[in-house]
Amino acid sequence: MKETIERLRSSGIARIEAASHAADLEEVRVALLGRKGEVTGLLRGLKDLDSAERPAAGAELNRLKLELDAGLTARAAQLADSGPVAGPGWDLTLPGELPAGEGSNHPLITVLEEICDIFYGMGFRRGDGPEVELDYYNFTALNFPDDHPARDIQDTFFIDEKRLLRTQTSPVQVRTMERMEPPLALVVPGRVYRNENADASHSSEFYQIEGLVVDTAISLADLKSTVDTFVRRFFGADEPTRFRPHFFPFTEPSVEVDMQCVACRGKGCGVCGQTGWLEIMGAGMVHPNVFKAAGYPEDAYTGFAFGMGIDRIAMLKYGIGDIRLLYENDLRFLQQFRGVS
Ligand code: DAH
Repeated sequence: MKETIERLRSSGIARIEAASHAADLEEVRVALLGRKGEVTGLLRGLKDLDSAERPAAGAELNRLKLELDAGLTARAAQLADSGPVAGPGWDLTLPGELPAGEGSNHPLITVLEEICDIFYGMGFRRGDGPEVELDYYNFTALNFPDDHPARDIQDTFFIDEKRLLRTQTSPVQVRTMERMEPPLALVVPGRVYRNENADASHSSEFYQIEGLVVDTAISLADLKSTVDTFVRRFFGADEPTRFRPHFFPFTEPSVEVDMQCVACRGKGCGVCGQTGWLEIMGAGMVHPNVFKAAGYPEDAYTGFAFGMGIDRIAMLKYGIGDIRLLYENDLRFLQQFRGVS
């Protein structure tokens, strides 16, 4: 009995302290001292105790009751002092104590819009697609074989057997071609997800911009001139670019595009890992199987596609050393981009 009383004493006091307004405090009072309260229950149980134990237990319980009662009264006074949250005489339209700072675009959105604007200037339109995507559009329609490692649960956040969080913006290619006939020129910015451990250069969510151009006589030279125009307009100077052969299931041939390092102008530095080049996108000529998945007639069209990570570009542009800063929404970080556009 003694132990039960002790336990109730410390938990009761803690609950009283924790009550943050009058209604909370009243609930605590009822739970402890109300007709069905815990202390009241113990008092009622006294009659069942051994007659030897009863007087001491009764005295202890009464002391507890007085203590809790005093605690409740003191806490009620404290809460009343800190004033009502709202009530008569309060002007809720008065400004708060913290200044309401001016908002601004997130640096990723600023860069995303800037990139899209450059492509609009070349005649592209904007496309869109879902972040919760079907396995079919994210992989199968893009010519990924069933056993391709990118489908692996380690890379992809699967929702169920058929649905996943898109790992790339490329699924919007087939979704769009299913609905529209060439000529097509579109950019699709959006968020993508991969099951990565976060570090300074990896995040499990990031942004890409997909590009797709389809018509009757599109060539690799069109891809090269489009990329060069973009790099010149975005980075200002006449930065050279280069194509390196690569592999993507949905393009043939496939390339990775590098631009000369903006930090060292090709000499080699920490930003470019001493190579003088920065990889900025994957690209290539649309694979015939992708046209087939979209329902286009065989051999009727050619096209190029590219996919670019926006985070890397924003980090290069603003000298941001850690990708996680872009997703933590720390105001001290974000406020540095006020007035930047
Ligand atoms: N989807 C690729 C990725 O996330 C990037 C990419 C490469 C997109 C080549 C393309 C492309 O459209 O043609 O790694």
